[in-house]
Amino acid sequence: MFSKALLGLMSLGLCAAHMEMSWPYPFRSKFDPQTDPSLIDYSMTSPLLPDGSNFPCKGYHANTPFRAVTEYQAGQTYNVTLAGTATHGGGSCQLSLSYDNGASFHVIKSIMGGCPLELTYDFQVPNDVANGDAIFAWSWFNLIGNREMYMNCAAVTISGGSGTPESFAAAHPPIFVANVGNGCSTVERQETVFADPGDQVEYGGNVSPDSPPFPQC
Ligand SMILES: *[C@@H]1O[C@H](CO)[C@@H](O)[C@H](O)[C@H]1NC(C)=O
Repeated sequence: MFSKALLGLMSLGLCAAHMEMSWPYPFRSKFDPQTDPSLIDYSMTSPLLPDGSNFPCKGYHANTPFRAVTEYQAGQTYNVTLAGTATHGGGSCQLSLSYDNGASFHVIKSIMGGCPLELTYDFQVPNDVANGDAIFAWSWFNLIGNREMYMNCAAVTISGGSGTPESFAAAHPPIFVANVGNGCSTVERQETVFADPGDQVEYGGNVSPDSPPFPQC
């Protein structure tokens, strides 16, 4: 009896845990050995607030000292790694960069369907990135469960790029934003298909190159 109750409690805990980016280390991540212990967010896995008040990055890009956790070279391949067990059936994810302190994020890779059923995804840093400090983001629309947007952000520094922040933003689409009080909502059990997924696209779940954009907003 006791162990059943305990198991029940444990699975509740796991359900509440969702997913979080563990690499590159997000602002305030417990995975980052250099995070000031008083700043650690132990619920990094929780989604953005539905009213959008902590979009983007749970607000952490704005109130956490900028310290690049990794350096990206244009043209090279790196990974994003996720932690947690509550994948909510997967969904669709985007990887993006911001050069304007989080005012805009532009897509470098979209994984449409089945994300994050795998815990690590490779991506290539485009050749046309701008050099210097940037915010790297992982955003996620879960397939099953409440309609939510997840977003974790990491401070990175970039070199070897041929672009400027402006040319990069012009060449790569803005991230998809929904479920944060902006008048756009995803639909449970219907895969989110980004209208403008950018150049690097991976398909999973039941999304294919023929899938129409959904939702359209
Ligand atoms: C992802 O990259 C980091 C940093 O290079 C590395 O330590 C880690 O092993 C990589 N993870 C996977 C699953 O390849």
